[in-house]
Amino acid sequence: MFKPAVSPCLAGLLLACAASASSATSGAPSLGEPLTLAVLAGIELTVLPTGEGLPAGVGSVAEGAALYQQHCQACHGPEGQGGMNGDLVGGVGSLATAAPKKTVNSYWPYATIAFDYIRRAMPYTAPGSLGADEVYAIVAYLLSRDDVVPEDAVLDAEGLAAVKMPNAEGFYPGE
Ligand code: HEC
Repeated sequence: MFKPAVSPCLAGLLLACAASASSATSGAPSLGEPLTLAVLAGIELTVLPTGEGLPAGVGSVAEGAALYQQHCQACHGPEGQGGMNGDLVGGVGSLATAAPKKTVNSYWPYATIAFDYIRRAMPYTAPGSLGADEVYAIVAYLLSRDDVVPEDAVLDAEGLAAVKMPNAEGFYPGE
């Protein structure tokens, strides 16, 4: 979602690009093309803890299980654990023990963060390749591994924002 009113940096970038484009005709180095709003809309992917910024779409745990096997298990293990690039699930309730295990389900305070992160950064070798429905499904699947949502859960923007994470109360502002 692109909002000019709250994205002064992006607006500044547009101006800078427009300036470099016009100077190209006067012999200055030509450094790329002017940024368009359409391009920016594809880059501006921020999702807030409240769910603001989540796209339309829907995905189920069952769909997510299949997508996970296809896109994620090679690096993160067969069911979100045991892979070479870190466990994504498990460890719920372990943070205050002698062996804390930080995962999406045990540590992250908002489920919406998982959507934001996975959509923009994963799979590691092809970030941005998953559609909104696929990301909703994969997040639903990961959450279901620790019963944060039930096995038959189907998540959309509203449902995802309503999910209460196990460690939601574990973060607080310092004094
Ligand atoms: C080619 C290997 C690879 C694949 C495939 C892959 N990941 Fe990752 N993943 C990584 C690596 C490496 C990191 C650590 C990245 C970093 O710290 O910058 C990571 C980190 C993550 C994290 C953050 C974990 C944390 O606790 O900080 C999540 C969530 C995640 N991946 C989800 C996924 C999902 C979902 C998929 C499938 C859609 C996926 N990954 C596919 C390699 C992979």
